[in-house]
Amino acid sequence: MARIKKANLKLGNKSFDLPVITGSEGEVGVDITSLRKTSGAVTFDNGFANTASCKSAITFVDGENGILRHRGYDIVDLVENCSFVEVAYLLVHGALPTAAELKRFSRYLNQHSMIHENMHHFFSGFPADSHPMAILASMVTSLSSFYPLLSHRDPTFDITSARLISKVRTIAAFSYKKSQGAPLVYPRYDLSYCANFLNMMFSSPVDPYEIDVELVRILNKLLILHVDHEQNCSTTAVRLIASARANLYAAISAGICALWGPLHGGANQAVIDMLNRIKNDNRNVKKAIERAKAGKHEDRLMGFGHAVYKNYDPRARLCKKMCDDLFSKRDINDPLLDIARELEEIALKDDYFVSRRLYPNVDFYTGILYRAMGIPTNMLTVMFALGRLPGWIAQWKETVENRKARIYRPRQIYTGPEKRRFVPIDQRKPGIKGRVLPPVVKNL
Ligand code: SDX
Repeated sequence: MARIKKANLKLGNKSFDLPVITGSEGEVGVDITSLRKTSGAVTFDNGFANTASCKSAITFVDGENGILRHRGYDIVDLVENCSFVEVAYLLVHGALPTAAELKRFSRYLNQHSMIHENMHHFFSGFPADSHPMAILASMVTSLSSFYPLLSHRDPTFDITSARLISKVRTIAAFSYKKSQGAPLVYPRYDLSYCANFLNMMFSSPVDPYEIDVELVRILNKLLILHVDHEQNCSTTAVRLIASARANLYAAISAGICALWGPLHGGANQAVIDMLNRIKNDNRNVKKAIERAKAGKHEDRLMGFGHAVYKNYDPRARLCKKMCDDLFSKRDINDPLLDIARELEEIALKDDYFVSRRLYPNVDFYTGILYRAMGIPTNMLTVMFALGRLPGWIAQWKETVENRKARIYRPRQIYTGPEKRRFVPIDQRKPGIKGRVLPPVVKNL
């Protein structure tokens, strides 16, 4: 098909030609950069579902056909053949590492796996039941006080990205140990990235953890499955902060906070909470399906549906297979997996879900797999953040390296009151009818 060069917009009795750009996989974009200057109009796009915020060479998703590629490599090839550290290197640098490059990057990860001893005091400042995502976001922001951001240019960027990827893993494991009131277990140079994490999570001075090679293999695959996903909500948050040229730690902390939302990365925890509610409701799966179809946000089928995939999320398919393999191999019996399978089976035959093209997404099975590894429910979104970190770093780098990248500053369609005459305070009446003010109480 001949490449489309321009689009024409008719606005009232005027018409405007707009340039058209085409991506390397054939996506067509109408470039509206000059729209407001030439026509005075802006576009409106709720949730930016039809708007490309940037050009990016990192990840490609074909939502119609369930395709996911990172730097051109298919997700199945990466999950089956690589370690998470290899894929992290690929995302940040754009090429799979040679054996020598991987060895050096792994050495950087070890060298930068500790956190400043002063940071340990931060943990004791949090209430014992603090959500680990709150701790993670705060600790990552504070890294900028201890580790000055080296340039985003090579060769120091290897150190910067390794430092963040390694320290976030340490902070995640430490926040779990602190929540258990257990002594911290330090990283070890003789362990791989994933083995180190499991050791820091489950070892103790009185009962050393025996590295479970199968779980290390599964953790590598799970983290690869989360490594990046185009301009999703949290990545857009990272790029937005990067567009203001704020430092990498500030951008990553913003990404962690956006990911926390139950409609985004927080969905993996929400799936487990939903499956537990169904289990405790006499495993009434049909009732849960009917409530999800009623359309109330809070009754949605968590782990189902996707803003881009209108087909089965390839990551969900891989996770489901990993669940089946691990559970059969180890004869694990988790009622939540049975309930999840039943939910999927019913939903995929129900017209409500089929007509809206709602399929299981990456969050539907991951929580069940992490549970089987002994990782608690409130740590699930932290695990998502661990996996997503290399993608966020790559997207931050791509933004700050792009000299043409402008600060994110969307426009709006104003719907508020027109100009009003100012009213001095002694002439004002209660503005919002029926509003009940909360009683003023002495805050603790
Ligand atoms: C992630 O963007 C990414 O790439 C994200 C991610 C990544 O790797 O970064 O893939 C990770 O965030 C996965 C998504 C995790 N979230 C959930 O599982 C939460 C449950 N899913 C939804 O809330 C919803 O599907 C979204 C938020 C994921 C997508 O929302 P959309 O595309 O904006 O869809 P929508 O809210 O406009 O819904 C369209 C229709 C509505 O019904 P109608 O108004 O047409 O009658 O579908 C319904 C919705 O009510 N719907 C659901 C549903 N999801 C959408 N109904 C029941 N259960 C659901 N889960």
